[in-house]
Amino acid sequence: VPRFVIGPVESFPPGTRHRVEVDGRGIAIFNDGGRFFALRDVCPHMGAPLSAGTVWRLLHPKGGGGYEVSSDRKVVKCPWHGWEYELATGQSWYRPDTDRVRAYEVSVEHGSELVDDEAEPAGLAPGPYVAETFPISVDGDYVVIEL
Ligand code: FES
Repeated sequence: VPRFVIGPVESFPPGTRHRVEVDGRGIAIFNDGGRFFALRDVCPHMGAPLSAGTVWRLLHPKGGGGYEVSSDRKVVKCPWHGWEYELATGQSWYRPDTDRVRAYEVSVEHGSELVDDEAEPAGLAPGPYVAETFPISVDGDYVVIEL
């Protein structure tokens, strides 16, 4: 697998995201508190740049209308139509009980390769869209991605 150095690690401080071009592809790089994630910078729904999205913690709906906040799982919310993609896997998640499902007439493909039952957050179901992810790591002073 070809490895590409995308820059010195200090160019990607915690809490930031960048768009980089690697081998002709736009890649969104996220540094979430020192953990790096790389997603293709193209929303699989209709192509918005995910690097322009908002990052937050995965919310699990709880009974009674509240939410539980995931301690370590983060999603990026697409700036165009709001689908949320988990940074680690690219899997989209949605609430089966919301209008969004009806609006999009989602056909849920359970058993996605990226998601096992244990990883399915309570109250959420995997959406039909999966953003492409790439292995990314810090090697010495540099951030390295594999495409
Ligand atoms: S283009 Fe991303 S949710 Fe529609």
